Amino acid sequence: MSERILLIDDEDMFREDMASLLRQQGFACRTAASGEDGLRAAQAEAPDLVLCDLVMPGAGGLEVVGRLAALYPELPVIVITAFGTLETAVEAFRSGATDYVLKPVVPEDLLGKVARCLEHRRLMGEVRYLRREVSEVRAGARLVGTSPAMEAVRRLIARVAAGDSTVLIRGESGTGKELVAREIHEVGRGPDRPCVAVNCAAVPRDLFESELFGHVRGAFTGAVRDRPGLFEVASEGTLFLDEISELPLELQPKLLRAIEQKEVLRVGESRTRPARARIVAATQRDLQAEVAAGRFREDLFFRVRVVEIVIPPLRERREDIPLLVEHFVPRLNARLKRHILGVDQAAMRALMSAPWRGNIRELENTLERAMLLTEHEYVGVGDLPAELAGRAHSAELSDDLRAALSAYEREHIRQVLATTGGNREEAARRMGIDVSTLYRRLKALDL
Ligand SMILES: Nc1ncnc2c1ncn2[C@@H]1O[C@H](COP(=O)(O)OP(=O)(O)OP(=O)(O)O)[C@@H](O)[C@H]1O
Ligand SMILES: [Mg+2]
Repeated sequence: MSERILLIDDEDMFREDMASLLRQQGFACRTAASGEDGLRAAQAEAPDLVLCDLVMPGAGGLEVVGRLAALYPELPVIVITAFGTLETAVEAFRSGATDYVLKPVVPEDLLGKVARCLEHRRLMGEVRYLRREVSEVRAGARLVGTSPAMEAVRRLIARVAAGDSTVLIRGESGTGKELVAREIHEVGRGPDRPCVAVNCAAVPRDLFESELFGHVRGAFTGAVRDRPGLFEVASEGTLFLDEISELPLELQPKLLRAIEQKEVLRVGESRTRPARARIVAATQRDLQAEVAAGRFREDLFFRVRVVEIVIPPLRERREDIPLLVEHFVPRLNARLKRHILGVDQAAMRALMSAPWRGNIRELENTLERAMLLTEHEYVGVGDLPAELAGRAHSAELSDDLRAALSAYEREHIRQVLATTGGNREEAARRMGIDVSTLYRRLKALDL
């Protein structure tokens, strides 16, 4: 397929000359006689390269270059400028132009630059492709956990990321739905493309349509200028619809249409615009039940749930807890400016037996609080909230007398040490034992 070049210039003669020059070279050349027209053509036809005159009535070349650079960061734009406006060419570079040619145009000069820009674009595409291949190998790399459930989530991410299918992520609060969505984006559409998240529970009802699909100036009071919706902002990237069950019923057909037709209608406009973002949605609710209750449209449900990733609650994969703790401690150290070495055995036992209704987020918050509070190198049971600390005891006070006694001893020594601020001589004196005995006990109890 020949590469597509969009030529924007208001001078008819020049435009036709250039277009035929480019066509002779085998390019598919589309022309536009004004900046506005050019922007529309760029949106509609996704050219591989744009040639743009700098001085035009209406939206001037600079503005067009700026808009193109913002909308399509990888699209090469060569500006065409008369000799006297070299300074403007400098400004054009600042607004994102890739290169410039001077008028009167020397064909070899123009064609050389066009070839170079297109070659560069091809290489960029290859780099992105290779990067994606590499990251596919590591799909789910930032997701901690080796439980069968997490492995299954990782496999699903790797399998669906590269495609275009909509993905529905289901899981309780704090299970990592957003993390999984971002992972799908990174592996699929790539880190260079936008990943736009909308929390459907947080958008005011009457602004929803404009938020998602955009509006044109004057569409309603307060619409003082044209504004693209998040669908358009996500462009070739990913649109993450969080809490999709909260999407107002009256908007659901519009979303369905946008996903199916891959185009959106800004509020107040009758012309559609392309919307190629990949859709990833998340929900805490059972969407099927929402459908049954008449709060969610069945057609949209089927459209969104092409692939479903279910993240099980943390209490169903407790074996991941130690790994998660290991993952969070250094991060929290950096954030809290602390130097905590980890979590001691009893505290770990407490963490592993907690119900974690808030899942990983609650675990992270609990650790954060404990790491802030603790006066020791290792977070202990005493640093955990009371309802959790109780679990360490009940877990530890097993029927075995010796285990129960060590558990009690460990806890007692820890508490005395805490009251002496870690001073072992003073702690030994208070407990009525030799300091050397204390050292032996500390060692024996792995404290
Ligand atoms: N498998 C995991 N490995 C490491 N960190 C995780 C994992 N799962 C979740 N997290 C972390 O837990 C926190 C909560 O995750 P996230 O915001 O993705 O959850 P959520 O399901 O979107 O929650 P909510 O429903 O409350 O919005 C985040 O800080 C996230 O980085
Ligand atoms: Mg979330």
